[in-house]
Formats: sequence, C-alpha cells, structure tokens
Amino acid sequence: MENAINNAQSCAPERKKRILSCIQSSGMPTLGNYLGALKNWKLLSDEFDCAFAVADLHAITVRQDPQKLKKQIMEMFALLLAIGLDPEESIVFIQSHVPAHSQLAWILNCYTQFGEMSRMTQFKDKSASHADNVNVGLFTYPVLMAADILLYQADLVPVGADQKQHLEIARDIANRFNSVNGKTFTIPEPYIRKSGARIMSLQDPTKKMSKSDPNPKAFISIFDSPETIMKKVRSAVTDSEGGVYYGEGKEGVNNLMEIYSCCTGLSMDQITSDFEGKGYGDFKKAVGEAVAEELRPIRERYEDLMKNQDYLKATAAKGAEKASRIANRTLDKAMKKCGFVLL
Ligand code: TYM
Repeated sequence: MENAINNAQSCAPERKKRILSCIQSSGMPTLGNYLGALKNWKLLSDEFDCAFAVADLHAITVRQDPQKLKKQIMEMFALLLAIGLDPEESIVFIQSHVPAHSQLAWILNCYTQFGEMSRMTQFKDKSASHADNVNVGLFTYPVLMAADILLYQADLVPVGADQKQHLEIARDIANRFNSVNGKTFTIPEPYIRKSGARIMSLQDPTKKMSKSDPNPKAFISIFDSPETIMKKVRSAVTDSEGGVYYGEGKEGVNNLMEIYSCCTGLSMDQITSDFEGKGYGDFKKAVGEAVAEELRPIRERYEDLMKNQDYLKATAAKGAEKASRIANRTLDKAMKKCGFVLL
C-alpha cells in the first residue's frame, strides 16, 4: 500500500491526489481508531487534497438513542479538529449534511449484487451481535460507504485493516458502474499502513480493539485520563514468558509493542533492545506513559473546542458547503449517465 502513496507523489503535477476517509460517530473513539486511521489522516492532510467526515448516517445501522447520537456527532467532529485537521486546508464535514451521499447510495444499490453484500464479514458479525435488528441498512452499509468514497473521486482511502473488504467492494461497484456507463468514478486505492493497521484488544489480543467492546478495560478511549490509561495498560494481557520481543504466541506483547512503536516511532528491534533484561512491569509503564503523552494534547484541544459549540457548528456548515460542491458535481454526472432528467 505504501506504493500507492509513492505513485501518488511521483505523478503529481496536474492535480494533487485526493484522499477521503470517514469515522463513525457511535461510541468512544479508541486508540485503535487513532493509530489505525486518525493519526494518518493528519499526516496525509499536510500533503494531499483531503476530505474527512463523521459518518453519522452509518451509525444508525444499529439502534441509537437520538439525544446521545446528536452529542456524539458533534464530539466526533470536534475530535477531527482536535487531532490537528485544518478545516481551511482540508474538507472536514458531517456526512448527513451532504444529501448526495444518500442519493448516490441509492443509485449504487442498483449496481450491487445481493450475493456480494451477503459475503461481507462485518455484516455477518454485526447481524450476529444485533440479531434483533438485522435491518436492510446494515446489509447495504458498504454501498453507502462506496458512495462516500466515489462522490469525492478519491484516489486513496486511509483506513485500518478491518475496512479492507469494504474498500474492495467499493472498487468493484465503481468498476461495474464505469463499465456499464462509461468512466464516471475514480477507482480508489486503500491506504493501509503496516504499523497500527490492527490494534488489538488489551484483554483478548486475538480480537480487534473496538469501541463497542463491553469490557472497558479492553480498549483505551482517546479521552481516557493518564491515570486510566496507565491502569488499563498495566492490566493488559501478556504471557508468562517475560521477554519483550515480537513473536508467535506473544499476541499481547506484540500488540503493546505495536502501540509503543506507533507512539514513539521506535522500531520493534529498538524496543526489544531497550527492554532487554527488563520485565513487563517496566515495559507496560513505558507504554502507558507514551500513550498518555500522545493523547494529552488531543484531549486538551478537544476540551477547548467543545466549549465553543458555535464555532463547531459554523465550521461544520462551511465543511458541508465545500463537500457538497464536489459531491453534487459527481452525483449529477452519475445521474446523467443513468438517464435521469436534470433540471
Ligand atoms: P470506524 O468508525 O469503525 O473506524 C474508523 C477508522 O478506524 C479504523 N480502526 C482501527 N484501526 C486499527 N486498529 C483498530 N483496532 C481499529 N478500529 C478501527 C478503521 O479501520 C477506520 O479506518 N465503515 C467505516 C467508516 C466509513 C468509512 C467511509 C471509511 C464510512 N464511510 C468511507 C472510509 C471511507 C467504519 O465503520 O470505521
């Protein structure tokens, strides 16, 4: 995937490559979201033409409390600014403010096969964990995600490893539409960095760290206090063997090393040599401190931003306006190709 970035840089002159990514507005954003996605968004935003959104329409595929959802949407929007995205440089917006997402999703539904959606692992997992509400929105979730991406003619989509299958289906849908109607959409490339692409649960390191985990010790929230972070890292599952090195059967230690490496920039070899002869106690202390230090400025900026709701709303409105300009252009193009009458 690093190749995609290199290609993007080497053939730059006409227009900067465009990047699009989104994060759902449900639940507490975790260290996994941050290291797997948000941190890269900030890095990429300095170099590429970027659009980033709070995917609030996706959130209602599982039942939400409307008051809580409303609060979480603005919290997530504030977080995008707190990680350092500049709303003047990048387009930062809330998905539901741009109706073109829902409109294109309908069109793309008609270019997606039932069988393709049935094979999506996230659908299978979520329909098992929400067996009382296996709604059609949950089923066609990847089509809305394809619309999010294709509307912006995105070249690259930075995501964690869990979204790879959704990216593949977005490419398939785009290729199918283009082959039926002529070139309409850019075919997006996933951008999945090796490090941080899959941060695991602290309590069961064979499972991805997830904000919906019922055990709060399993994940670190971006908003956890330094004390809570230290406590959660201290109680992380490791092994009885005692050595800090990356290896088979050491999923817990591997995960902590991955987290430490993402926060400090140190390589796995460097970490192993730094902790040679030391126990897990020292290692966990260092990991906890590195995470707390990484998240501290974000939490501080977030708290400031949340005090200024008027600024957040005005910034979201400007973001929606900029996003709509690009999205509506693509939507019109797709509608024309399908034969709709545009006024
Ligand atoms: P969401 O909201 O679950 O997660 C947002 C981003 O965080 C990444 N991520 C992780 N990375 C590493 N380790 C983890 N444990 C971890 N958990 C989450 C995800 O891969 C994602 O990049 N369907 C998407 C949201 C979406 C989207 C889009 C993404 C909607 N439209 C268009 C890209 C483009 C989702 O649910 O992400």
